[in-house]
Amino acid sequence: MAATPAGRAVKRLVVLVSGSGTNLQALLDEIERTGAEEYGARIVAVGADRTGVEGLARAERAGLPTFVCRVKDHGTRQEWDAALAEAVAAHRPDLVVSAGFMKIVGKEFLARFGGRFVNTHPALLPSFPGAHGVRDALAYGARVTGCTVHFVDDGVDTGPIIAQGVVEVRDEDDESALHERIKEVERRLLVEVVGRLARNGYRIEGRKVVIQ
Ligand code: GRF
Repeated sequence: MAATPAGRAVKRLVVLVSGSGTNLQALLDEIERTGAEEYGARIVAVGADRTGVEGLARAERAGLPTFVCRVKDHGTRQEWDAALAEAVAAHRPDLVVSAGFMKIVGKEFLARFGGRFVNTHPALLPSFPGAHGVRDALAYGARVTGCTVHFVDDGVDTGPIIAQGVVEVRDEDDESALHERIKEVERRLLVEVVGRLARNGYRIEGRKVVIQ
């Protein structure tokens, strides 16, 4: 088994995507740049809830195994959740990263991966949770917004916060311009946070995440 410079095992990451996968790409690029041993983790598989997305193409170009688990291929949401958990578990991840994965996972998934399932959200939680964090911050008239990397719990974007990045809202911003600037900060933050979690280990104490 590969080891980090500190002699610890390189952690296994499964990344879940639904779209363009630029956060996934940032992880791939950093691991390629530093080497998995130095970074502390490597991506062992990429999963999606839909076919034909650029995130999956990025994984394929990187030579990684991919899997797709679509809600509509399962009788109930619960069955989908169990199938997703099974597909992820097959790759024996230490950490699962939701990088623009636009589905809420259920009980079975959280029973298996709770406390090691990391999400990135394009707003400063607890403000503007949900699928339209950028649009909602803009519509509210917030002057600063940003991104939040957090552990997933059974609420919608309510889990313990690991790190946040701040982005100023400009007068001329529309949703897409603001989201692009947020994503620049978000990619750097996600890469930094996942590496630190993998290399140092962490504990979750109530709402606090302590990285050792
Ligand atoms: C990110 O801003 C993420 O927070 C949001 O969707 C975006 C995904 O971007 N949920 P990408 O697919 O990584 O490019």
